[in-house]
Amino acid sequence: MTLDKSNTRVQKMFGEIAPRYDLMNHLLSLNVDRYWRWRTVNLAPPRGTSPILDVCTGTGDLALAYCRRTAGATRVIGTDFCTEMLQIGQKKKTRAGLNGQVTFVEADTQQLPFASDQFQLVTVAFGLRNVADTDRGLAEMVRVCQPGGRVAVLEFSMPRWQPFKGIYSLYFRYVLPKVGQWMARNRQEAYRYLPESVSQFPSGEALVTRLTAAGLAQVEMHPFTLGIATLYVGTKSDQETTASPRTDMELAGSHPTDDATADSKMDDHTTESSDCVAP
Ligand SMILES: C[S@@+](CC[C@H](N)C(=O)[O-])C[C@H]1O[C@@H](n2cnc3c(N)ncnc32)[C@H](O)[C@@H]1O
Repeated sequence: MTLDKSNTRVQKMFGEIAPRYDLMNHLLSLNVDRYWRWRTVNLAPPRGTSPILDVCTGTGDLALAYCRRTAGATRVIGTDFCTEMLQIGQKKKTRAGLNGQVTFVEADTQQLPFASDQFQLVTVAFGLRNVADTDRGLAEMVRVCQPGGRVAVLEFSMPRWQPFKGIYSLYFRYVLPKVGQWMARNRQEAYRYLPESVSQFPSGEALVTRLTAAGLAQVEMHPFTLGIATLYVGTKSDQETTASPRTDMELAGSHPTDDATADSKMDDHTTESSDCVAP
C-alpha cells in the first residue's frame, strides 16, 4: 500500500509529536542517534567558510552539531516546513548560546528559498524519506549546493547481518511503533508510519542511484551501527550549475546576491519572530 506522504499529513504528524520528538528519538534509539549525527559531522566535515544548510532540520540537532563544530566561523541554516519542530530548535539554540550562528527558516525542501550554488554542504538527517517527492527534494538540495560542494543524506536502512537483522526487524516493526505511539500520544500514527516509510524508501545502491541521477558524483556509503542507518555523501560536479539565478530570485521572492539581503530574507522566514515560550 502506498504511504500518504502528502505535505499536509507529514506537517500535521510532526507538529503533533514535536514536543516529545527529541525525548522519543533518544529513548527509542538508546541515544545512538546522537552518535550518528556526530559521525555525520566527522565524515562530512565543514570546509572553509561558505554556509552550510541542513534541510528537514526538525528540532535542529544536526544544524546545531555543525554549529558547534564550526564555532561561529560558518553560517549554518536549518530549514523545515513544520513550525512546531522549528520552535523547539529555536529554544535549543538559545539555550546553547548559539543564537548568532544558526538561523532556522521555515521552508519546503521541494522548493528551497535560496539562490543556486550557495552552500558548501547540504545535509539531511532522517528527513528525505518524509519528503513527498524525493527526487524533487534531492534536486533542490543539489541546486543550492556549490559546484564541488557535498550533499550528505543520513537515513535509516535495514541491517543485513543475521541474526541481528531478524531481531532488529521485530523491534522495528512491532515494538517501536507501539512504544512510540503510546509515549508520543500521537493520533497521526507517526510511529507506525516510521517502519512503513523506511521499508518503502530506497537504501544502499538504490539510493546511490537516485543521488547520482540528481547530479552527485563519487557517492560514498557509510553504514552505521550494523546498518541500522547509513550516511551517503556525494559531491556536486563543478562543471555546471543546475538553475538560473533569475529563477532562484523568483523562487525566493527577493532581490538576493548580497549577504545582507539574503539575511533579511531569511529573517522573514525564521521562527525567531514567532511565539517561542521559554522552557
Ligand atoms: C524525522 S524528522 C528529522 C528531523 C531531524 N533532521 C533529525 O535528525 O532529528 C523529519 C523532518 O522532516 C520534515 N519534513 C518532511 N518533509 C518536509 C518537506 N517537504 N519540507 C521541509 N521539511 C520536511 C518534518 O517536518 C520533520 O521535522
